[in-house]
Amino acid sequence: MAGIYIHIPFCKKRCTYCDFYTEVEPQLIPNLIDSIVKELQIRKDYLQNEIIHTIYFGGGTPSILNKSQFELIFDAIYKMYNVADDAEITFEANPDDLTTDFLASVRPLPFNRMSIGIQSFDDTDLKRINRRHSGKEAIDAVKNAQNAGFSNISIDLIYGLPNQTLTAWEKQIDTAFTLNVQHISAYGLTYEEGTALWKQREKGLVKTVDDDSMNDMYLLLIEKVKQNGFEAYEISNFSLPNHRSQHNTSYWKQQPYIGIGPSAHSYNLTSRQWNVSSITTYNKAIAENGIFFESETLSTNDRYNDFIMVSLRTSDGIDLRLLENEFGVEFKDYCLQNVQKFIKTNKVDYSNGRLCLSSQGVQISNLIIMDLMRV
Ligand SMILES: C[S@@+](CC[C@H](N)C(=O)[O-])C[C@H]1O[C@@H](n2cnc3c(N)ncnc32)[C@H](O)[C@@H]1O
Ligand code: SF4
Repeated sequence: MAGIYIHIPFCKKRCTYCDFYTEVEPQLIPNLIDSIVKELQIRKDYLQNEIIHTIYFGGGTPSILNKSQFELIFDAIYKMYNVADDAEITFEANPDDLTTDFLASVRPLPFNRMSIGIQSFDDTDLKRINRRHSGKEAIDAVKNAQNAGFSNISIDLIYGLPNQTLTAWEKQIDTAFTLNVQHISAYGLTYEEGTALWKQREKGLVKTVDDDSMNDMYLLLIEKVKQNGFEAYEISNFSLPNHRSQHNTSYWKQQPYIGIGPSAHSYNLTSRQWNVSSITTYNKAIAENGIFFESETLSTNDRYNDFIMVSLRTSDGIDLRLLENEFGVEFKDYCLQNVQKFIKTNKVDYSNGRLCLSSQGVQISNLIIMDLMRV
């Protein structure tokens, strides 16, 4: 069981909060598609013929590609990899790309899931963070996708945007649940160093949301998620039953995946590697059979730390039996010993051999994870 991630590093313009590697020069797209196809060929043995259960086009903005560009990539994938008939195949889309013409053109492609980056339905929020769509366009985009026959749709929201109040956030959640989508990812805003938003905050130009209000926003979200029959299956991910993201779940269950394209990461159980974050360097290296990635071999501590970090963020939590099977009794004891103080203060629930974050624990999840890690 394995996954393929394709990074499409283009945006029509940059949002102020985002530090993902992307460029804003669409003229670079055709050459990049050629390189992506070549990388799929060069690395076809990376997953050792594992069956591919998920394919994910992320960005940047995959919806910037046209049908024939997607086809070139799909042709290469289906020719060289063993894709399961029921594989989950997702692409990320920006609302302003989801016109009826675009959706009709990509509908015949193998996609069966779409993830739409909305962030907020509030036009003032959207302008402030330099999004290129309005709230109404975001709603229309979801409706257009549904009318085009997409029946497994996820949307991304961000809470804690500058100036946002709890009431304003509640409106965003309520609007999201009117759209009949199957999945919501909701992220607390982080001020990533070097981004335009981070610089604005440095200059005192941004009214930030304090930690207590961020917590209130998260708790409100969880309440509404439950009221609407969604499962909170990971800290930032919520779905109707049977609509969890299979691709992200495979990351959290530490399945192998190959990441293709500039800045994409790969994991094969024993090592991680990451492609260079520059389209020009990447294209050149691919063309000249050069090196376009760095890699590291994972120690047992690294693998244990990854296991703790991803498992504790999910509703299934840390399965101590699995931990012992994978890493041995010493690692299990280390984890159990360090987690005691969080169990005593009701930040972590311990039952049926599993450690799960309580709703209070979620608010300090990073601190708990750090305490359970080994250095
Ligand atoms: C890299 S983006 C790609 C999606 C698509 N380009 C879009 O913007 O609609 C994936 C998601 O990460 C989230 N994200 C990116 N930067 C973030 C930040 N600094 N804080 C919180 N969420 C962030 C946003 O919700 C975004 O939709
Ligand atoms: S959030 Fe999406 S559209 Fe905005 S800069 Fe990041 S990748 Fe590009």
